[in-house]
Amino acid sequence: MRRMRRLRVPGIREMVAETELSLKDLIQPIFVDERISEARMIEAMPGQFRQSLESLAAEAGAIEDLGVPAVLLFGLPAQKDEVGSGAYDSQGVIQRAVRKIKEITNLIVITDLCLCEYTSHGHCGLVKGERILNDETLPILGEVAVSHANAGADIVAPSGMMDYMVRAIRSALDMDGFTDTPILSYAAKYASTFYGPFREAAESGFAFGDRLGYQMNPANLAEALWEVQLDIEEGADIVMVKPAMPYLDVLRQVKDMFAVPTAAYQVSGEYSMIVAAADQGWLDEKAAFLEALTCIKRAGADMIITYWAKEYAKLA
Ligand code: PBG
Repeated sequence: MRRMRRLRVPGIREMVAETELSLKDLIQPIFVDERISEARMIEAMPGQFRQSLESLAAEAGAIEDLGVPAVLLFGLPAQKDEVGSGAYDSQGVIQRAVRKIKEITNLIVITDLCLCEYTSHGHCGLVKGERILNDETLPILGEVAVSHANAGADIVAPSGMMDYMVRAIRSALDMDGFTDTPILSYAAKYASTFYGPFREAAESGFAFGDRLGYQMNPANLAEALWEVQLDIEEGADIVMVKPAMPYLDVLRQVKDMFAVPTAAYQVSGEYSMIVAAADQGWLDEKAAFLEALTCIKRAGADMIITYWAKEYAKLA
């Protein structure tokens, strides 16, 4: 008689495990704030910090020492303006941060490529009145990509969900000789309420409207496949599904359908929910994040952006 429980005993249980998390697949986000002089805790994300350009060196060193292979950088500039010019300033916060990390570590440096942290209105593109101008934004994104690559970024990650952003960035990079810089596209990025804590962390809340006009409707799956296909055609080397846990079906289908390197972003809200519940004693933080990461991997993620990368590394 078949008894499924035979294989669930210690030792055998591990041997028959179908999914294994690996530190080499994890990416740690770092927020770099140009206006502060020492690291500061992010209130909505207990345990996560904004680094200053000074404290960044020690943090990057610690991440490397723990064996986390890659970081994803977000910048908080001293000044914002209508067009987000801080995003492509060669002396901007991200450009300085990338140079510093590359100087002192061998970490893979991925830069988030979006305007929302740099625009006074907080939107991911240029605006006219209350309209987001897709095509007018594209050359700026190209310029941002080139400035990140010039600073030493290993991978650029456009997250603004403008149509044709990948094509514009690929051609700008190629024209400047960065033909080997990969693009990790936030291809299926949903208009998610789970980004809430991030907007405090990166001060990227918006002055009017919402992001429903450019980020995807959580109700849609076929549209995500279409988005991914377009980004691959435009030259994306890695595609991303974001958020992760509420969108595991999307992740599975993307991986099955396209078989390209696929990333998942376990976002700020996924982090803060677990941390807050653990703080109440309602669940075990470590067990919860290990389970969540394992399930994200099982659903098809080749790599995972997670605020727990460092914590995971400490266990490994
Ligand atoms: C910027 C950006 C956002 C996140 C990553 N890049 C916020 C947004 O689109 O509103 C969210 C990450 C997180 O919640 O951890 N476009």
